[in-house]
Amino acid sequence: PVTEEDARFQQRIDNEDKIEPRDWMPDGYRRTLVRQISQHAHSEIVGMLPEGNWITRAPSLRRKVALLAKVQDEGGHGLYLYSAAETLGVSRDELVEQLLSGKAKYSSIFNYPTLTWADIGAIGWLVDGAAIMNQVPLCRCSYGPYARAMVRICREESFHQRQGYELMMALAKGTPEQKRMAQDALNRWWWPSLMMFGPPDEHSAHSAQNMAWKIKRFSNDDLRQRFIDATVPQAEYLGLTIPDPELRLNTETGHYEIGPIDWTEFEQVLKGNGPCNRERIEARRKAWDDGAWVREAAVAHARKRKARDMK
Ligand code: 3HC
Repeated sequence: PVTEEDARFQQRIDNEDKIEPRDWMPDGYRRTLVRQISQHAHSEIVGMLPEGNWITRAPSLRRKVALLAKVQDEGGHGLYLYSAAETLGVSRDELVEQLLSGKAKYSSIFNYPTLTWADIGAIGWLVDGAAIMNQVPLCRCSYGPYARAMVRICREESFHQRQGYELMMALAKGTPEQKRMAQDALNRWWWPSLMMFGPPDEHSAHSAQNMAWKIKRFSNDDLRQRFIDATVPQAEYLGLTIPDPELRLNTETGHYEIGPIDWTEFEQVLKGNGPCNRERIEARRKAWDDGAWVREAAVAHARKRKARDMK
């Protein structure tokens, strides 16, 4: 039943008000934001693993510096997003426990391996490109702390996407072997990047409610289509082929039409049966355990300082 308060809240949403942490909000609004923001944060932190895999093997200092900066940025994005989630009354430890226990999701895309250096270019170009499509509208999300976190994140994502595309350009315009590496990376990252936008609208559990609450401004399929329309010409410019024999430009609508997405693969990855799911969670568990002494030292140090300041 819609209560007085729910109706007043929806009026605020319709007026494009920003909802702030101390405002009244329906439990469902709080719950779906904790769910989405925490899973977004987990995605950023887990996303550091496939990318970090190539820091020691970057082909030049320039590429190493850009990759280091990008991986560090992802860590910072995780920080902003966990902090935004904490404003809704959950603790960081609770959220980390949900990730490590497998209860919480993170973006399916990070369960794929980075097999060659070209994957680092494909991730910047396609994965950060897809992330930008989905995150720019989130800058106008109705929940203040989340919208504000996204403004800074989107600026850094643009750098991530540009350095990735430039890396792919160097390979595509390089030796035949380098061009083959770039094409192989595109072949492996194209379809998983399309899955980042979520299931088709008719199978999206949260879209209707999240769009009513102006958390989600555009549907999964809308944003996926925008990404495809923007990315196909970029692949053509690189002289690379999109791995979809049914891809065609509909000259009436101006949109590209694609072949079927393999949603069973998507479901398998979400179930934990992707190529790297176990490895990713194990790496996060190890990082959490190995970092326990740092957290204890920081708490002990803070206690000492507090005691000293109290004298
Ligand atoms: N990977 C994992 N789970 C996914 C998913 C994906 N690609 N797409 C959808 N899901 C999950 C949803 O979380 C939901 O499961 P849940 O109820 O257990 O949370 C279920 O599938 C149904 O999907 P819905 O479409 O109903 O879910 P949403 O309305 O939440 O839409 C979303 C999914 C578009 C990813 C939305 O959650 C969103 O916009 N999240 C914030 C942005 C984000 O997380 N982007 C991907 C992170 S990659 C990244 O940013 C790192 C970059 O720096 C490289």
